[in-house]
Amino acid sequence: MTNRFADHTVLITGGAQGLGLAMVRRFATEGALVHVADVNPETANVLKDEIDGSVAHTPVAHVLDVTDGDAVTDWINAVGGGDVLVNNAGIIRDNRIENISTSDWEAVIGVNLTGAFNCIRAAMPHMKKRGHGRILSFSSMSWRGNFGQANYVAAKAGIVGLTRTVALEGARHGITANAIAPGLIKTPMLASMNGPAREKLIGKIPLRHPGEPEDIAAAICFLASPEARYITGVVLDVDGGIGIGSSIR
Ligand SMILES: NC(=O)c1ccc[n+]([C@@H]2O[C@H](COP(=O)([O-])OP(=O)(O)OC[C@H]3O[C@@H](n4cnc5c(N)ncnc54)[C@H](O)[C@@H]3O)[C@@H](O)[C@H]2O)c1
Repeated sequence: MTNRFADHTVLITGGAQGLGLAMVRRFATEGALVHVADVNPETANVLKDEIDGSVAHTPVAHVLDVTDGDAVTDWINAVGGGDVLVNNAGIIRDNRIENISTSDWEAVIGVNLTGAFNCIRAAMPHMKKRGHGRILSFSSMSWRGNFGQANYVAAKAGIVGLTRTVALEGARHGITANAIAPGLIKTPMLASMNGPAREKLIGKIPLRHPGEPEDIAAAICFLASPEARYITGVVLDVDGGIGIGSSIR
């Protein structure tokens, strides 16, 4: 492991478990000071238990709901902004469109899309002052459309449009903005799917197996690194090829 992020402050939302936790671990191992914002009140304990004590900077936990715009702004101002922002917090409330309640629509758009907007809005002024910044937001392979996920798909497609616009507005200030679209990744979310449906989906992955959270952390750290300085406004599929489209085999 290199020390690519020594002297970097990284802000990650939804870092108490799953992909977020894998990214906290990777950034911290590579020298970053990581601030983690999660609605889970156990976040500080989770980080204490899960992150190797040998990291240069112990990640700092903040209990925060990303849908609360004022609280997000207070958090980001209090930590002095960041070099990297990772909008990872997300939820699903799947249903066929006629069965999606207004509250499930609003909750999914609220956390996945408005939450990212709240963080970007608060982080941009700090990044402009620094003259650089990396904004990374979680879309999903579902952004192209998925049965039973209208609310989630709308939010994740929204992330793509938001990212492309932030890329344009940030470019003159040295800020890049990119989205990542994971496929099926081994997280509690995937484990919770019913077995036959899960196996059917896994069978459609050209690389023939689900990804590991570390695969996502590696891609995010690349996009946050100096090597990715000329990449902005893209959606990076990290999905074993499932996003390529249908295949006869
Ligand atoms: N797991 C996958 O296969 C997969 C695939 C595609 C996209 N994604 C996206 O990746 C991201 C992470 O997914 P995951 O599987 O690790 O999810 P997860 O459910 O394991 O973790 C999500 C984290 O977000 C936190 N969170 C939820 N609501 C919040 C809020 N209002 N404010 C702050 N924190 C909040 C949760 O407490 C949790 O720690 C999500 O945006 C998800 O949509 C995941």
